[in-house]
Amino acid sequence: MNVEVMVEGRRAPGEEPPKWTDDAEVDGFVDDVMRGLRCRPREIPCKYLYDQRGSELFNAICEVEEYYPTRTEMALIAAQLDAIADFVGPGATLVDLGAGNGEKTGMLLDRLEGLRAWVPVDISPVELRRCARRMKRRFPKLTVAPVCADYTGEWQLPATGPGRRVFAFPGSTIGNFSPEEARWFLRSLAEKAGPGGGLLVGVDLHKDRRILEAAYNDAAGVTAEFNKNLLRRINRECGADFRLESFVHQAVYDEEERRIEMRLRSTEEQALWCGGEQFWFDPGEFIVTEHSYKYTIEAFAALAEDAMWRVRGVWTDRRQYFSVWALEAAPEVTGTGR
Ligand code: AVI
Repeated sequence: MNVEVMVEGRRAPGEEPPKWTDDAEVDGFVDDVMRGLRCRPREIPCKYLYDQRGSELFNAICEVEEYYPTRTEMALIAAQLDAIADFVGPGATLVDLGAGNGEKTGMLLDRLEGLRAWVPVDISPVELRRCARRMKRRFPKLTVAPVCADYTGEWQLPATGPGRRVFAFPGSTIGNFSPEEARWFLRSLAEKAGPGGGLLVGVDLHKDRRILEAAYNDAAGVTAEFNKNLLRRINRECGADFRLESFVHQAVYDEEERRIEMRLRSTEEQALWCGGEQFWFDPGEFIVTEHSYKYTIEAFAALAEDAMWRVRGVWTDRRQYFSVWALEAAPEVTGTGR
């Protein structure tokens, strides 16, 4: 159902006011956007970058020359398949928190013979169905048990019988959590894995800021388009009137925090409507749309240990751009394994 937004001010007489949809409110999008625009610095949770178009643009980012993480991680996994298979072991259940387009998963499943079950977890039922079907077609004997859930919230693993539980969390998505959130999240995975359970996680590494900033400001402008797509989504779903041409994409590396900060910066003084409320922007004022934390090997090892994981292996590329970790849940973990 469409809800009409009552606005005054800049709109010309007779001009249609923006609309927003109830659906957007159900998943908290409108509330989160309004809250984010009211606070300082303005900040909108990065999960909202991924509507249908945003997900397509993210896939395109993975292909651009400057964005090294995807390619580097794929090459690392391909080079370490034997070691990874040893770590996972026979009869395990692989819980996949980032099956995505299935390329990395396909490579793993090809090599992991004797897997008990594969459990892809995704918030989007459409994506989940698509990737579960694709893998079932490719590996007809494999037990596929998809779970539609936001894995950053409360969710339950299906019963898949005995055997080790191993989580796969590729793509350096862990970098989109703050270190505190990452610790909490890793800890909750350890509880779910149970003592002796496993985690394979991809982690982007701290490096020269020029390489990092190039990766998030690609010359073809794909990341800029991905970032600005959030404004399109806000216009569509929150009854807003952001003019895309008066915001520019910016990604800067904060050496102290060791994180890329992605922003949408206003190029002029402007007032705009969103969800029935007016917001003012000074020239240069920005909205933070994503943080992407980068780790040193030492810092991530400490974080993992703190979250009840023991480091069993870490693989990096020759340039030390990216790392893939094999972690084992500590014996003291008290979780029920669900
Ligand atoms: C999904 N995530 C790990 C990406 C990253 O590198 O933080 C998202 C991204 N944002 C801009 N480029 C890629």
